[in-house]
Amino acid sequence: MSRFGLDGRIAVVTGAARGLGAAQVHALAEAGARVLAVDLDPEAVRAAFADDPLRDRITAHRLDVTSEDEVTTFATLCREDLGGIDILVNNAGISRPAPALDYPMADFDITSAVNFRAVFRLSQIFGRMMIDTGRRGAIVNLASIGGMVVDGPGASAYDGTKAAVIQITKNFAVDLAPHGIRVNAVAPGYIETEMTRRYVQDAAYMSGLYEYKIPMKRVGQPHEIASAVVFLASDAASYMTGHTMNVDGGWVIV
Ligand SMILES: NC(=O)c1ccc[n+]([C@@H]2O[C@H](COP(=O)([O-])OP(=O)(O)OC[C@H]3O[C@@H](n4cnc5c(N)ncnc54)[C@H](O)[C@@H]3O)[C@@H](O)[C@H]2O)c1
Repeated sequence: MSRFGLDGRIAVVTGAARGLGAAQVHALAEAGARVLAVDLDPEAVRAAFADDPLRDRITAHRLDVTSEDEVTTFATLCREDLGGIDILVNNAGISRPAPALDYPMADFDITSAVNFRAVFRLSQIFGRMMIDTGRRGAIVNLASIGGMVVDGPGASAYDGTKAAVIQITKNFAVDLAPHGIRVNAVAPGYIETEMTRRYVQDAAYMSGLYEYKIPMKRVGQPHEIASAVVFLASDAASYMTGHTMNVDGGWVIV
């Protein structure tokens, strides 16, 4: 089982204050990694892990993934203070639903900046750093089944960014493969977090999904995504790259 372990690895998780990111931080630490948990609000990250028995392996940092200055400063810290990182999880994401024909372009721009541009830019910067520092590298991107199928009302901008994430996972995988760095993605279905609260609490909407879309007839929990992230980051996935793993209760197979 040691191939599933992450002892001695250093991981960065973006959007780590809550939801899927917080579960990934805990799971990566449980697997043995030291984790830099970054978010817009580092106090929220600290609060999230204040009582976590693994908190000694977790440090909180402010990082707006859309800010070139903040990303550069944080990358310099990773390189100079830690000698680089082994694992990057591009988890930060936002969802601002609205009908496609009336979609506000300001919401389109911020959704693209967080969900797509930042994934591209952090993969560039940390991919380059992994090459230069010679650390064992793995990048895991949070895509969505919305990058493959229409997964909800008003999701055009969000789904477009997630389709882009699935594609650039393949492009970066090809470019980084010669350097021994793997790039994969996880595509969650509906997982119970702040992002999906408005849907998950709508019993009529959810029962329609259970009838027609989700064979397992339940939403997922954040730890069920974190397990897939740890696997893809670990040596257990050593021959996998460019892959997007669906963790969706069977949504996209029906
Ligand atoms: N919850 C789901 O059902 C679901 C399904 C498919 C994909 N996803 C994806 O999983 C990821 C996590 O989703 P979640 O449900 O935990 O969302 P969430 O809204 O609960 O949490 C997102 C986190 O990202 C942070 N964040 C937002 N903008 C940021 C920025 N500019 N820089 C740094 N951090 C920022 C937020 O502060 C928050 O802590 C997202 O990429 C999302 O698109 C979620």
